[in-house]
Amino acid sequence: MSNSRYKLLSEDEIKEYVPNGIMRIKDSSRLKNALIFICGMALCYVILFHVKSEKKMGNFKSFKEMLIKPFVTQKFENYADFYFTKDESRFLNCSQITNGSKDAIESYVNNGRLKLEREKLLKLPMDCENIKTRIRGDIPSFSKLERPIAFVRNIFTLYEFQESLISLNYHPDNSYCFSIDFKTVHRLSENMLSLSKCLPNIIINPMKYSFDSAGHFQDRAHFDCLKLILNRTWYHTLLLQNYDIVLKSSEQLSDLSEMLNYTSIMGLEYGYKHRYKEDANWTPAGLKLFKNEKGVPDRILHTPLTIRKGLNEVFLSKTFVDSLFDKLNLDPILDLFDNKELYGVDEMLIPTLYENYLGLEGQMTSNCTKLQLDNLTRQTDWNFNGPDGYDKNCKSKMKRHSICIIGVEYLQDFSNSNQISANKVLDNFDFGPIICLRQMIREGETNGISEDALNWSPQYREMKLKQNGTYIKEKFEC
Ligand SMILES: *[C@@H]1O[C@H](CO)[C@@H](O)[C@H](O)[C@H]1NC(C)=O
Ligand SMILES: *[C@@H]1O[C@H](CO)[C@@H](O)[C@H](O)[C@H]1NC(C)=O
Ligand SMILES: *[C@@H]1O[C@H](CO)[C@@H](O)[C@H](O)[C@H]1NC(C)=O
Ligand SMILES: *[C@@H]1O[C@H](CO)[C@@H](O)[C@H](O)[C@H]1NC(C)=O
Ligand SMILES: *[C@@H]1O[C@H](CO)[C@@H](O)[C@H](O)[C@H]1NC(C)=O
Ligand SMILES: *[C@@H]1O[C@H](CO)[C@@H](O)[C@H](O)[C@H]1NC(C)=O
Ligand SMILES: *[C@@H]1O[C@H](CO)[C@@H](O)[C@H](O)[C@H]1NC(C)=O
Repeated sequence: MSNSRYKLLSEDEIKEYVPNGIMRIKDSSRLKNALIFICGMALCYVILFHVKSEKKMGNFKSFKEMLIKPFVTQKFENYADFYFTKDESRFLNCSQITNGSKDAIESYVNNGRLKLEREKLLKLPMDCENIKTRIRGDIPSFSKLERPIAFVRNIFTLYEFQESLISLNYHPDNSYCFSIDFKTVHRLSENMLSLSKCLPNIIINPMKYSFDSAGHFQDRAHFDCLKLILNRTWYHTLLLQNYDIVLKSSEQLSDLSEMLNYTSIMGLEYGYKHRYKEDANWTPAGLKLFKNEKGVPDRILHTPLTIRKGLNEVFLSKTFVDSLFDKLNLDPILDLFDNKELYGVDEMLIPTLYENYLGLEGQMTSNCTKLQLDNLTRQTDWNFNGPDGYDKNCKSKMKRHSICIIGVEYLQDFSNSNQISANKVLDNFDFGPIICLRQMIREGETNGISEDALNWSPQYREMKLKQNGTYIKEKFEC
């Protein structure tokens, strides 16, 4: 792993890394240098001034006081105030927008939407009291979760964005583990560390990875985080990427975990042949997949794995994750999928390990290798017509990597969605959906996931049959 150590890149390298024109990540170092310079000058001035004319001028003290004036704790009135000025946020009326008011949406959109811009961030006090206020200040107490969830996320953009995505469904019983990209400016890492020192259920993976839009290191980072939180109490884990927004409350996810029991949800699709090295040795024996091959049937050891595909976002039971770490050597297969020459490499590892029967706990035993698009883990408004950028067929009129970007126009859909998460929310396109969804979740305006919705998933149906003793492998219809 020596190639994934922390390294800060130059501004040009960071710009190069930007996936396309919409996301323009700018390094704040120039601004920082300018500030350091100005502060330095001010200090010199003060010292000179102080030495030369201490007696004459009595106002040095007040200047010093100004320099060390502590941050003032902000009261929790309007969540938007933590990240935006009142003037900026005056057009966002979440109640009206989620109520479907076209006028409210139009007024907000036409006035430019709320955006986080790296150059114009409000001062964010990072002491523990303020962090806690921002994340959970309006939720004075929590009731115990039956089945806590582990959120595992790979990140690289602004700290403010990640902080507010956490606060959306923060619960002290859950675990939140983050892996950070090594090209990210220092500020995200530093602030995430402050956050984790303040809230013990927020864990930062010390390794850094070279994430890119082809999906490299995504699986590796997720697994490294999972390893860090294996001995915490959780029942399902939701694996996420930087721009995913979770649509359900912790209580709703806990209920879902209870229904799913040992099963997991993910897409069940054929792997695309251009996304993996087809001529590699994909047998478990060739991959040295099992830590201990004794007792593993030859038919499993020597049959090439059928390469499967879902999305990178999956909802996995602890039962299955424990079994993965317990029984398998994950490094060789992680490296084989993470082929540096290929694109979209991060959507196959878990579906392949889950859908090929390997005798792991939590797997389904039926051989379900037909196409089943996942409509539970991630809501995505795909739009393959035309280039990225403006697109009148997107509700938000904006598209990136053939996916309509989430704007407040999607909030009504979210309130009765059967999906756990949605993609993509961009902090520098529209921050409004995060603020409003947070309010919706807190006020119980989002639906839980129904048992009916789960019935499309063969692993869930298989479990139900097994539980009442009517499962027959040969007769099971995927
Ligand atoms: C939003 O609109 C409702 C109803 O029109 C109003 O009562 C409420 O005060 C408004 N909220 C904000 C934050 O402006
Ligand atoms: C939401 O819509 C209902 C019915 O259309 C209306 O009675 C209510 O006042 C609206 N609430 C807000 C906050 O706009
Ligand atoms: C498991 O938990 C114990 C404390 O309960 C801790 O000391 C240990 O480091 C943890 N192990 C891992 C791998 O995180
Ligand atoms: C989960 O499944 C196991 C095995 O079928 C069963 O014993 C247990 O009662 C189930 N738990 C829940 C919460 O349904
Ligand atoms: C599973 O089904 C596929 C076709 O649907 C077949 O090619 C494959 O051999 C089967 N695997 C097992 C282990 O039965
Ligand atoms: C989920 O997808 C299946 C087909 O794969 C479909 O039959 C089902 O209606 C879908 N469910 C929802 C809630 O969209
Ligand atoms: C067993 O469970 C399945 C799925 O829930 C149901 O369709 C079936 O009727 C049940 N059979 C019996 C005998 O209870």
